[in-house]
Amino acid sequence: MIQGFFVTGTDTGVGKTLISTALIHVLRRLGLRVSGMKPVASGCIDTDYGRRNEDADRLLEAANVSADYDLICPYRFMPPIAPHIAAQQEGIDIKTEQILQCYQKLQSCSDAVVVEGVGGWQVPIKEDQFMSDLAVEAGLPVIIVVGVRLGCINHALLTAASVLASGLPVAGWVFNQLDPDMQQLDAVKQTLQAYMPGTMLAEIPFQDDPDVEAIARSFQLSK
Ligand SMILES: Nc1ncnc2c1ncn2[C@@H]1O[C@H](COP(=O)(O)OP(=O)(O)OP(=O)(O)O)[C@@H](O)[C@H]1O
Ligand SMILES: [Mg+2]
Repeated sequence: MIQGFFVTGTDTGVGKTLISTALIHVLRRLGLRVSGMKPVASGCIDTDYGRRNEDADRLLEAANVSADYDLICPYRFMPPIAPHIAAQQEGIDIKTEQILQCYQKLQSCSDAVVVEGVGGWQVPIKEDQFMSDLAVEAGLPVIIVVGVRLGCINHALLTAASVLASGLPVAGWVFNQLDPDMQQLDAVKQTLQAYMPGTMLAEIPFQDDPDVEAIARSFQLSK
């Protein structure tokens, strides 16, 4: 039974939020109550409702379980920089136990939780703690978003190797074309299919205005 996924990517800005929101739609269509979570976010704005992060907003909007913003995105930093540096600058100690408590609360009111990582897989969140440690603690299968552009094969295989070394399963990966002029697209896809663990869950072409619903429909994910 699906309990959720941890969505990581080959880099920052490769489509994790886009794919996470599409994945939430897919899981909703399977009849599940779904929450989204962005445990650590750098790049926030202060609003009348408090400090907000765009990724967390989008996950919340896609979800069909309404939850407290502080559960969905417990650590929100203003500057769009590496999270452990942002935390240091703001004098905040990121407590992994608190993040896990938030995750468990979301889990208790949902059938599935889609957790979006920050940056790529091996991103420090504090001394000797990485975002990947949180995925391990939560025990969630991992989906790797491969931002398809030159260099992505190496990034994808390194990410997959590191996920597997952590002991977590790779539920699958998404072929997300970032470079509209990417050459040898089919050959790159075949190489990833040959070497990546798990199956290709979706193949998303470059789109000027990405369509979340269409991406959700193209997902190959069963209950
Ligand atoms: N297939 C695609 N075609 C065109 N644009 C895309 C595609 N996938 C993602 N993008 C665009 O790339 C940008 C980054 O996507 P997104 O915010 O989902 O990445 P991310 O990995 O979540 O980034 P972050 O590391 O900041 O959380 C967005 O503007 C998004 O619309
Ligand atoms: Mg994002």
